[in-house]
Amino acid sequence: MSTLFSENPLFSEVRSDFIDHRRFTSAEFARLEMERLWTSTWHWACREEELPRVGDYLVYDIGDQSVVLVHSSEDVIEAFHNVCPHRGRRLLSGTGQVNKFHCIFHAWQWDLHGNNTRILDQEQWQGCANMSREDMAMARIHVGRWAGFVFINMSVEPEPFEEFIKPAPQDLNVLRMDLMRLNWRKIINVKCNWKVAQEAFMESYHVWGTHPQFLQLNDDVNISYAAGKHGKHRWIYELPPGSPSRRLGKEPLGLDEVRENFAKLQLAFADQLGLGNGDGQFTARSLRAAHEAISVLPKGTSMMEAMTVAGIAMKEAADRDGAYFPLIPPEHLATMGHDWNIFPNLGVVWGADGTLIFRARPDPEDPCNPNVCVLEMISLLHFGNDNGKGKQPPLGEVDDVVDDWKNQRERIPKLLLQDLINMEEVQRGMHSVGLKGLRPNPVQEVQISNFHRVINEYLFA
Ligand code: FES
Ligand SMILES: [Fe+2]
Repeated sequence: MSTLFSENPLFSEVRSDFIDHRRFTSAEFARLEMERLWTSTWHWACREEELPRVGDYLVYDIGDQSVVLVHSSEDVIEAFHNVCPHRGRRLLSGTGQVNKFHCIFHAWQWDLHGNNTRILDQEQWQGCANMSREDMAMARIHVGRWAGFVFINMSVEPEPFEEFIKPAPQDLNVLRMDLMRLNWRKIINVKCNWKVAQEAFMESYHVWGTHPQFLQLNDDVNISYAAGKHGKHRWIYELPPGSPSRRLGKEPLGLDEVRENFAKLQLAFADQLGLGNGDGQFTARSLRAAHEAISVLPKGTSMMEAMTVAGIAMKEAADRDGAYFPLIPPEHLATMGHDWNIFPNLGVVWGADGTLIFRARPDPEDPCNPNVCVLEMISLLHFGNDNGKGKQPPLGEVDDVVDDWKNQRERIPKLLLQDLINMEEVQRGMHSVGLKGLRPNPVQEVQISNFHRVINEYLFA
């Protein structure tokens, strides 16, 4: 066996420049993740807007575990294992509205707080141990909430959510994602490990190779950090937006050319990362407004002024729709990170008045198969108020199950399709006997090595 491989049969070796690829291909490793990671860590389950009214519930499946989340009383969301304590039937599926939980097998019932309210013929258990109404409550799961995201943790005594989520709120609260709402969500079965899919959004080192259409419009060199259990990376900002990639080795562009590129960049975001009218990472509303405002600036206008004008135009367009628009102080913008991964699988690739969200999970139909996952690509937006033109679509119209993505490419934003194509090819490559381990970039892919280090904390601590 190669000396590069860890002697540990569970493939635990992780360095900033080395990751054992069998972590992505081993069924044993996948089983270990199911037993020790998903049932122990905080992780994102749903958005608050998916449970708008008291009585709304949804079922969230993670591998072979199933969880019911319910809006149980005013501004309270509770979570329970989706299983009946009588004979183990799953209680619910999908989404819906209830005023109590009811098991259709033998008709036991619970209120929305999981308290048992009916055991049919209860007197027949008289004298049996651990058969009180309290014992037969639904099994509770811890809930944490941040920025409109509802997290769960199945461990009995989890670390405090406020500690887990640090330092993400400090950097990202400026976006007011709590006010954003679901715009579209693509649910895609992908033939790759969940970590391969998640990692596609944990670095921008791949832009040069995978997304060359952006190289004329933006410098793609970036830097990556660990951020607690999470990770982030950001552009370096040595060149103003609109500058071509420094790797192209071009003579520096003139001021007016950079500004024209900056205007084009707005349209490229709508074209490459949006759907339909262009809503995706940003609202099409703000991208159009920025493009128009930059395009009419006189020759010689500085990039600093162009960026200020673009920000004001976006904010004014949002104001006209009654929508929120975050004004981010430049010193905060410089360090907050553009692409985040909240451990383990909440990818946040934010725009300004929108964000893309990426979540890959083991396939609930085949939870310990390391070669398959369910990937969700999501757009959240700051919609207008009821009088605004950009009202949120009904929740029922948000989801799009893309069951054959290779033949349904038009349903996926162009740039994300390029990422998707990589994923299955990476998974195939990981099985090669010629591969001696993965060699992440120790500067631009720190997020990924940190991600694996944190996974190890759960698997091997
Ligand atoms: S399994 Fe639920 S009531 Fe019997
Ligand atoms: Fe990408």
